[in-house]
Amino acid sequence: MSKEILSQSFNFEGQVALVTGSGRGLGRMIAETLLNGGAAIALHDINEEAPNAFGESPSLTALAATLSGRGGAKVMSVIGDISKEDDTKAMVKKVEAALGPISILVNCAGGDIAAKGGKPNPNDALYISLEDAHAVMNRNFMGTMLMCRAVVPGMVQRQNGAVINFGSLNGHIGVSPEVVYGCAKAAILHYTRCLALEMRPHGVRVNAVSPGPTTTARFLATRTTDPAKMDGVSLERYAKPAEIAHAVAFLASSQAGFVNGQVLRVDGGMTLFAG
Ligand SMILES: NC(=O)c1ccc[n+]([C@@H]2O[C@H](COP(=O)([O-])OP(=O)(O)OC[C@H]3O[C@@H](n4cnc5c(N)ncnc54)[C@H](O)[C@@H]3O)[C@@H](O)[C@H]2O)c1
Repeated sequence: MSKEILSQSFNFEGQVALVTGSGRGLGRMIAETLLNGGAAIALHDINEEAPNAFGESPSLTALAATLSGRGGAKVMSVIGDISKEDDTKAMVKKVEAALGPISILVNCAGGDIAAKGGKPNPNDALYISLEDAHAVMNRNFMGTMLMCRAVVPGMVQRQNGAVINFGSLNGHIGVSPEVVYGCAKAAILHYTRCLALEMRPHGVRVNAVSPGPTTTARFLATRTTDPAKMDGVSLERYAKPAEIAHAVAFLASSQAGFVNGQVLRVDGGMTLFAG
């Protein structure tokens, strides 16, 4: 993964970044990119083993050790379920005790996962079970909101902070299956706008990135991919994780100092509607 990271990074020296779901996939790529720019990093996942689900690292602790070895800023790890308020509060306390106040929060954790694991089935508008619908909303929308509630009040006090939330292509257009997942992502995008409005007087910026299909290890392991969409000049392809991480890095950086309440669709132009 690391060779895809920005060679000339934005400068995040002196910053503390908590990236949820950074044990693997996009979150990990984002954490590595911010680390490369000099930020101290709190890696996070739901449990120790999550980074190993698709073979990306034996454990969260092992990943923290690997990234710490790169020198520069500190790397630590925290575990918790973002859909549980007590977990979010405890994680933030632990991170801030070890690294100092969080100045960058990336809410990357999420996914279309049923209450008992796997994908909801059925996964449509009328027949998804209520249990799975709640699980998907909790893992995505409620989790993002709870993390913001745990971190952003401190940013307000310090009059400094950048939050980047995660939408998806599915949050912008009608989809089936993955209907409730699309609704949860749409809710995250609108929450982003509303929180950004509330934060205007306080100098805290809140933005979102909406990726199109992206070749994370999970993505590659859980579907049949089209080889023609893996590489090439055409933008009618899958995104690479680094392409999403670069967009997050921009939104987290001082170069985006007047960008607030925006949703950056990083999908190669797959969704070309106004707004
Ligand atoms: N890869 C894509 O094609 C794609 C496209 C659009 C949006 N996204 C979004 O990007 C984000 C990352 O996706 P990815 O492809 O890297 O997936 P991934 O499954 O590899 O990573 C998601 C991470 O979130 C963690 N997580 C999930 N639920 C959690 C919870 N309740 N508490 C704590 N951690 C939890 C997982 O353990 C995992 O580490 C997700 O929000 C996803 O919806 C991905």
